[in-house]
This record gives sequence, C-alpha cells and structure tokens, in this order.
Amino acid sequence: MHRDYPLTLLAIESSCDETAAAVLQDGLIKANVIANQSVHEAYGGIVPELASRAHQKNIVPVVQQALQQAGLDKADLQAIAFTQGPGLLGSLLVGSSFAKSLAMALQVPLIAVNHMQAHILAHFIEPPFPAFPFLCLTVSGGHTQLVLVNDYLDMKILGQTRDDAVGEAFDKSAKMLGLPYPGGPLIDRYAQQGQSEAFRFPATDLPGLDFSFSGIKTALLYFLKAQEAQNPAFIQENLADLCASVQHTLVQMLLKKLQQASQQTDIREIAIAGGVSANAGLRAQLLVKGQELGWQVYLPKFEYCTDNAAMIAMSAYLQYQHQDFADWGISAAPRLKF
Ligand code: KG4
Ligand code: ZN
Repeated sequence: MHRDYPLTLLAIESSCDETAAAVLQDGLIKANVIANQSVHEAYGGIVPELASRAHQKNIVPVVQQALQQAGLDKADLQAIAFTQGPGLLGSLLVGSSFAKSLAMALQVPLIAVNHMQAHILAHFIEPPFPAFPFLCLTVSGGHTQLVLVNDYLDMKILGQTRDDAVGEAFDKSAKMLGLPYPGGPLIDRYAQQGQSEAFRFPATDLPGLDFSFSGIKTALLYFLKAQEAQNPAFIQENLADLCASVQHTLVQMLLKKLQQASQQTDIREIAIAGGVSANAGLRAQLLVKGQELGWQVYLPKFEYCTDNAAMIAMSAYLQYQHQDFADWGISAAPRLKF
C-alpha cells in the first residue's frame, strides 16, 4: 500500500448515533465532520428509530460541510465510501443509500467499509504507525475484540465478549449510578477523583481469550441495592470512588486478556481502538503495563477513538488500492464480520 497514492474520496459513517463525513486526499484527512445526536439522552440509551431519522436530517449538511472544509466540490471526488456494518440497520441504511446514490450520480467506485476494521485502521491516519503483526484491543459500545492484525486488510479475531461489550458495561454501570447516557465518559471523569481500590467487584475470567462483562453489572446492582437500603445517599456520597472502582475492574479485565494474547502470540506491538480507548484509566494503565512488559503501545488520538468518518476514509483508501469495490446491489449488513 502506498501512503502517497493519489486519490480523493468522501467517506460516510452512520452505523450508530453519529452522522459523520470525511474527505481524504492523497492519504491525508482534509475534513472530518461529526454531528452528534443529543435526542437519545432523555431515553437513557439509543432509540434506533430516532437515530435513523436524525441521520436523514443530518447527512446532507454534514457532507456539504466536509466538502467545504476540504475546499472541494462533489465533482472532485473519485470514490465514495460508506460503513456497511456492523451497526443499527435503520442507521446504516441512511448512509449506504446516500453513498450509493452519490457514487452512481458521479459515476465513481463505491467502497463498503467494515466499521470494526476501520476503528483499527484509524491508527494509520497519523504516525506513529504500528508495525505488523500487531495486536489491537477494540473496545466500543457494541464490541470487545482482541484482534491479530497481520496486515492492513488481514485481521483475525483471537477473542471477544460472550455477552455485553465493555462500553455497554460502562454505560449500564453509569445508569445505575444515576448518570445520563452515554455514561462511559462520565465514569471516566468522576473516576479521576476517586480511589480505585475503594470497592471490589468480581471480575469474570473465562478460560482463553474471550471476555464476559455481564457479571460485574449484576454485582454492582446488588451491591448498590444493599448499600442504599442502609444509606439512601450512598451513591451520591461515594460517586467518585464507585466510578473509580468500576472502571478499575473493567480495565484490569481488558489488560489481563491483552497480556495473555501477547504471551500466546509473542507480539509486543499493542494498540487499542474504539470509543472506550478514549478512557483515561485504560490509556494510563496500558502505558504502565507496556513499560513493565516491553510493549510498544499505540494510543489513538481522542478524535479517532469514538465513531468518526476519518477512519472509514482511511480503510477505504487502503481498499481502493486493492481494487476492493462494492457493486450496486450491496446492502447494509448489521452483523457484518471480518
Ligand atoms: O466506538 P464508539 O464511539 O461507538 C461504537 O461503535 O459503539 O463507542 C462508544 C462507546 C460508548 O459505550 C461510550 O460510553 C464509550 O464508548 N466511551 C467511553 C469513553 N468515551 C466513550 N467509555 C469509557 N471512558 C471514556 N472516556
Ligand atoms: Zn464504533
């Protein structure tokens, strides 16, 4: 793959509750626009029907803004990329239909991108770049995967969650602590003022490289119920310590499997990706572990952790060079795998 391959493309991301568009030119991101959907806050989680409607409203202005930021016109585009999956069907359909229509109208190739692969390839937007083969812990609201990355487009899942994703565990714990959706970033913020050893929650440790995060959610629920029966203000009085303790448990569970995977594969090039890779506790603990074990650690820039279209553009740039184009009959794939 050539980092200076000449190509101008537009990428669209609409897999969940972010409508995003990015323009990539000759390997560099020229624009990266994201419209967040605040409509879900009142419901304590994403409402798929509302997400789909918000994408329909946002997609044209977001694409226009991206082109404007890049100083380009639609006629300059040589390819259109979109997130094919995994994600919410109604949300994916908005991005895929828009991308298909635009590519057809401009008579340029269409590129279908796997969202989870794109989270990992976000590491190639800006240096330092991981060296192949590397291990990537991909942690988001819908997935928790330990991935062996042999090459840009050659990845293998070594382990994954059997129930909740770790982002979901953060968000559900936050909800129990009375925090609004999405609670992951709030747990992160409160945890910075708390003691991570204040409370202990049982960490499920499955054999092999798979994860399970549903147990900690149940443990927290019963723990809070018991404490609140004695002191109704328990959460309020201990919020920072509770957040720090929950976060610590989740981070240790992630790092344990990462260490196991590194030992098994003898790989010390280690990356993290996805929304939860923005977590300050995870980033700090990973750096400590990396020092201890001689790992080369790669942390994505904050703007490339949570959902964005720059990562879709980077994946599409690599796919274009492999002539990996979609045909017009392609449709959204909510459970897409790689
Ligand atoms: O990758 P992403 O933006 O969307 C999915 O593909 O799911 O990840 C969103 C997830 C949410 O669960 C959110 O709470 C979590 O990432 N998240 C965080 C932080 N920032 C985002 N979790 C913990 N700490 C953070 N700083
Ligand atoms: Zn994502």
